[in-house]
Formats: sequence, C-alpha cells, structure tokens
Amino acid sequence: MSIAYQQLNKVKGQKGSTIISVKKVSKSYGQKKVLDAISFDISAGEIFGLLGSNGAGKSTITKIMLGFELANKGKVVFFNGGPFDHKTKISIVPQQIAAYLDFTVQTNMEYFTSLTKIPKKEQKKRIDFLLNWLDLQDFKQMKIRYLSGGYQRLVNIALSLISDPEIIFLDEPTVGLDPKMRQMFWQKIKELQEAGKTIILTTHYMDEAERLCTKLVLLKNGKLIKKGRPKELIRNFGGLGLLELELDKRLTTRHFTLVQKQLPKNLIYLKNKTILIPYKQSQNFGEIISTTKSIIDAKYSIKSIYLKEPNLEDVFLNITGEKMGDTK
Ligand SMILES: Nc1ncnc2c1ncn2[C@@H]1O[C@H](COP(=O)(O)OP(=O)(O)O)[C@@H](O)[C@H]1O
Ligand SMILES: [Mg+2]
Repeated sequence: MSIAYQQLNKVKGQKGSTIISVKKVSKSYGQKKVLDAISFDISAGEIFGLLGSNGAGKSTITKIMLGFELANKGKVVFFNGGPFDHKTKISIVPQQIAAYLDFTVQTNMEYFTSLTKIPKKEQKKRIDFLLNWLDLQDFKQMKIRYLSGGYQRLVNIALSLISDPEIIFLDEPTVGLDPKMRQMFWQKIKELQEAGKTIILTTHYMDEAERLCTKLVLLKNGKLIKKGRPKELIRNFGGLGLLELELDKRLTTRHFTLVQKQLPKNLIYLKNKTILIPYKQSQNFGEIISTTKSIIDAKYSIKSIYLKEPNLEDVFLNITGEKMGDTK
C-alpha cells in the first residue's frame, strides 16, 4: 500500500522561481576541456534532466553545482545568492551505495538520522515513515551487503531524504534496475516533485528523461547542445512520426493514386499490404483520418495500426548524428 510523502520542512522556493543558476561554467582537467561555458537555470518544483552519453560532463557539472569541484570559469548561484543551509536544503543520491555495507538498513538509518538536527523523539518517526514510503520495512533487519542492487538504491534514497531536503540530486538512479523497480523509482521521484521538491536527475536513458523531466539540458563532449521541455524538443527536432496501417489486401493502383492525392504533403510507401505515412507532429492528423476513412469506405479493412511518435532518442540522433551512448 502506498502512503503519501511526509514533509518536515515547508518548501520555501516558490514554484517556478529560479533556485539554481549555472552561469558560463567551464572546466578543464589538464589540457582537456570537460565543460565549455555551460549555462542554465533550474526552477523550483522542476524535475530537471542532465542528459548526455558517458563522458558528456554530467557528473562534472553536478560536482561543481554541489561545490565538490571548482569551476575554472563561471559560477553557480543558489537561491539568487541568498543564504541557505546546504545540509538541510540539498541532498545527493549517488550512484554508488552510500550506506555501511555491514550494518543493517535500520542501523544505517538510525546512524545517519543521528547526524541531523531532527529532535530525538522525531527521529524514529522519520525513519519509520521513510521505510514505509519506500517499501523497505521487510528488509530493515538485513545488512546492506545482502540486499539486491535495487534495494540498495532505495536505501540510498531513504538516507538522502532523512532531513527532508528541498533540492534532490539523483545520479543515474535507475541504471541496472529491473523494469518493475524502475517504475517504482519513477513513481517516487514524481511523488517528491508533487511534494514541491526540485529534482535534478542525471540520466542517459532517454525514455526516463522523456517521461519524468519537466525541463532538460542535453550535453555532449562538455558542450550544452540543447535545452528545453521534452515535448518542445521533440516537436522541434524529433523529425517525422510514422503511421503504419496494415490492410487486409493490397490497394489497387487506382486506390493508391487516390490515397496519394489526399495526402499531398506526405509520402506514402506501399509495401505488401502496409501503408506507411510519415507525418509531422500535430500537423495533419485531420488529413490522415479522412484518408483512413476513405480506405475503409473503399472496402478495405484495417488489420492493425501502429503509430511511431518521434521521441527524445530521435532528438539526440538528429542533433548530434549519433545514438545515445556512442560518444566519448
Ligand atoms: N578528475 C578528473 N580528471 C581527469 N579527467 C576527468 C576527471 N573527471 C572527469 N574527467 C573527464 O571528464 C569528462 C566528463 O566526465 P563526466 O563528467 O564524469 O561525464 P559523465 O558523467 O557525463 O559520464 C570525461 O572525459 C572524463 O574522463
Ligand atoms: Mg557520470
């Protein structure tokens, strides 16, 4: 049974206001330029995606945002430069397990909670809530070492939420998880956003970014190549969608010519009994529907319909000429 996320601290960053500004950040290691004048803003309440293949610079920009690395040029401004407490405002869910492997889940939770400012009598409540919320109750007496990778990651999340931070950095949270666990992670990330949190999600999974992120930046070899909302990027750079109709029999030449006339801006390929109609997003569905209707009126029946919408993967491919994961 799922329970709602409980807050300790009221979220202060007003939804939509800029809470992190990355301003022209550059970083080199030796001769190698790893980040090249990267700029973007993150608003409160967003699930902000940092996307790019391995080596794109995602972790480096994250480390600079968190103050673990210094930029050679540029800066990162939190809360418009106002004062804030890193420890209670920001948390990090690293890719590697951050708990003590030979302690149980419960002991780890107790230890890390004891380091916070949460009053003693509230600590147990907070731990219980997080273990419930993340479905970890059945595992709390197990040593971290013996948990599966997915559950170890859940413990990572539990630890990072002890003090109920406002901004949560998640570094590749779903790498190697099975599909069911991935769905659970996505659900929990959404619930945190609904609770007013700002999430910074590093991922190289395009489907994950498309599903979760409200805004994202696409990095490649240290350069920011695009930023925007996933839908916007797909509309502008995703290219054509494809509608595939499978008929019960081949169109006659006469019908084929008729269909072609009805879709003057589109190419139609007829392959066996299949019609492929490339379309531009939200441009000509009316035409496509009336064409389909005329096919039915001419006594063909449609056996299957398959719609392939362009996605973020296509955006990446169209912009960079590479598939995700190819670059280094
Ligand atoms: N401490 C370091 N010293 C030298 N090179 C580094 C260091 N950290 C990262 N790099 C290099 O910087 C580039 C970007 O790395 P990183 O930010 O980890 O990429 P990502 O997280 O997108 O996979 C890579 O080519 C990596 O080898
Ligand atoms: Mg990385």
